[in-house]
Amino acid sequence: MTKPSAVPTYGELLSMATRGRHSGPRSRLPTGALAGLLPEAPPLPNPYPAPSQGDGIYGRADPDQAEEFLRLYYSENPDAGQLEPRLSQVKAMIASVGTYRHTPGELAFGARVAWRNSSRCIGRLYWNSLRVLDRRTARTPELIYHHLVTHLRETTNGGRIRPTISIFAPAAPHQPYTRIWNDQLIRYAGYRRSTGQVIGDPRYVEFTKAVQQLGWLSKGSAFDILPLAIEVPGEQPRLFDLPEDAILEVPLHHPDHRWFIELGLRWHAVPAISNMRLEIGGIHYPFAPFNGWYLGTEIGARNLADADRYNLLPVIAHKLGLDTSSDATLWRDRALVELNVAVLYSFNSAGVKIADHHTESRRFLTHIEREERAGRIVPADWSWIVPPISGGITPVFHRYYDEADLRPNFYLDDDAARIATHGNLAACPHGHGHG
Ligand code: ARG
Repeated sequence: MTKPSAVPTYGELLSMATRGRHSGPRSRLPTGALAGLLPEAPPLPNPYPAPSQGDGIYGRADPDQAEEFLRLYYSENPDAGQLEPRLSQVKAMIASVGTYRHTPGELAFGARVAWRNSSRCIGRLYWNSLRVLDRRTARTPELIYHHLVTHLRETTNGGRIRPTISIFAPAAPHQPYTRIWNDQLIRYAGYRRSTGQVIGDPRYVEFTKAVQQLGWLSKGSAFDILPLAIEVPGEQPRLFDLPEDAILEVPLHHPDHRWFIELGLRWHAVPAISNMRLEIGGIHYPFAPFNGWYLGTEIGARNLADADRYNLLPVIAHKLGLDTSSDATLWRDRALVELNVAVLYSFNSAGVKIADHHTESRRFLTHIEREERAGRIVPADWSWIVPPISGGITPVFHRYYDEADLRPNFYLDDDAARIATHGNLAACPHGHGHG
């Protein structure tokens, strides 16, 4: 794989960054990575598609990227020893077999720095404490599923969520690889009724149909956990339901409104993104699910509020007795705040870790200070960092950020994004696409 010419190297980026935050036209600086532990921003066209073919096949490891990564690893880990012997070993490996194997130390560092470089993530203060589960040798769907269940149990930790990544086998050069269809390990199904009304999460209506075609039996409620669809190349995808004890959910109630609990709302505690490709030193890990904890607004101001998701603002406004006859009464805004109060209050009273946007914004500025003291820039995408409510009363609103696509990083490939909402039946060996 060749480096796309429009993407500056790490060194070029560093020198751009030290020349001042906004030297050069913004649009030339890639924000590239769709990354990290992030609140969802409005859908925008991806201006920097991942530097891969997007057809699910990757070529040989890029030796320049391997070198760039190893230099970074040895410079930040003085105890790791000498760069040169490892560098020549890796270059020889790439020259002969087209790839190389990360040591456990390189793997853990690479994953942590991929988080650190995730410009859409406000929660990066704890990047260096990411728990890394090395699952590179797991091949069968059963074993992969077993490891995913372990991941969820360990990260959930009774509500004291520990940021965790499980790293499965890298893509071998020019070979198809095992993937999971789901974009998160825990998500809710969506069902469209003949009336057009949707029960559950409208985002997953097509995905739900696809797993139903593969034999999944649904309960048809508004919060049915979707099965995992694990696809080994050349085989039918295999479906696995998660065991109840691997899923922590929080029923939502409101500190002042007793009727709120009767809405029957809930959300899952762990946002484990499972369809982003982790790229470290020219090696592609297409299946490396990771999670931190939620920022309340992701649930209260997006998942439950967006008109194309659970769309709850009209219901809540009605219950609050607000005047919905005109936009100018700000009924949506008032309902939105109460919904967000309920999310934070419910998680906190259930002892499940969650962040509010004021605290998390302050932490992010602390992160920037710490990183700058360590001599590093913090690439950040303003439109994702600023929370979807009350932007101007959080400190992250009132400044600009460095924009850079630093590696290692997490990338969302086009095919992975499509499969996450539609499944991949067309690619099934036994003609399911026509079923
Ligand atoms: N916004 C996504 C969701 O609602 C989760 C993205 C990751 N967020 C996080 N806090 N780690 O489910």
